[in-house]
Amino acid sequence: MSFPIQRPRRLRRTETLRSMVRETSLTPNDFVLPLFVMTGKQQRHPVPSMPGVFQLSVDEVVKDAKLAFAHAVPSVILFGLPEHKDALGSSGWDAHGPVALAVRALKDALPELCVMTDVCMCEYTDHGHCGKLVQSRGQTVVDNDATLELLAREALCHAEAGADVVAPSDMMDGRVAKLRKALDEAGHSEVALLSYAAKYASGFYAPFREAAGSTPQAGDRRSYQMDPGNAREALREVRLDVAEGADMIMVKPALSYLDIITRVRSEVDVPVAAYNVSGEYAMVKAAGANGWIDEQRVMLEILLSIKRAGADIILTYHALEAARALGA
Ligand code: PBG
Repeated sequence: MSFPIQRPRRLRRTETLRSMVRETSLTPNDFVLPLFVMTGKQQRHPVPSMPGVFQLSVDEVVKDAKLAFAHAVPSVILFGLPEHKDALGSSGWDAHGPVALAVRALKDALPELCVMTDVCMCEYTDHGHCGKLVQSRGQTVVDNDATLELLAREALCHAEAGADVVAPSDMMDGRVAKLRKALDEAGHSEVALLSYAAKYASGFYAPFREAAGSTPQAGDRRSYQMDPGNAREALREVRLDVAEGADMIMVKPALSYLDIITRVRSEVDVPVAAYNVSGEYAMVKAAGANGWIDEQRVMLEILLSIKRAGADIILTYHALEAARALGA
């Protein structure tokens, strides 16, 4: 051993010293709050596997967004729960659908709130897949290029309503270029694109699918979402999306993919978002409810780890409670 011995503990002695040398800190400004929007008024239906999360009518969405914004959370992302589903997901581009109505109501009530929308077909299709199904080589598959047309309609609908950011989560090839072109041609060059660039086929989405009613009726999403074993492929996806015009890119889920967040962060210079998904949230809530962990402490530790890994923006169902815990 060298002498005198190195003593890193010196800088851990008091809270003042610890906070002076802390490398990463959370702020409410890091968070985006996901909200599930349905039709009707004064509707607030709890999602059983996600305590504290609700399916909300537009008026209730505005209430929750106001509360989050008052606690310094700058942004929400909307997921739609349509009344009607069909094979093509045509409610996805309904100008009077829940997402379009909620975007309008939010931009009226909170002009400074950054309103993001999730762009995908799975909430709107009766089969629950993220695009148009066709038969190919004896299999039912999602037709990539036909789906791009549907996604473009949905993104335009959200842009017309006033969305600040549209976020395609479908994992079709070429959707960023397609959406950028469609938005620009319609005069929406100011609408930003956040691409779910590295989105894995994950078991952590199960509570979300309960909330959104978007579980595939048959099969799974492995032919379009990424294989959990792949890291280099995430870099390729991210590079493609940046080349196609993505303003920001996302890694999803977050917690089991912290290595991907770090690698992606060093690969590109656009802002990197990470999605602290429904299953990650549900695990914390379940263990907390059982008294097995200190829920608030673990929540903040997880969010901090996602930021430390390299995320600039964290989509999280904890956004409001975390902002409150941070004293905002
Ligand atoms: C839509 C979409 C999903 C999530 C966000 N957008 C679900 C999925 O791919 O099945 C998951 C979010 C979460 O689990 O919190 N494709």
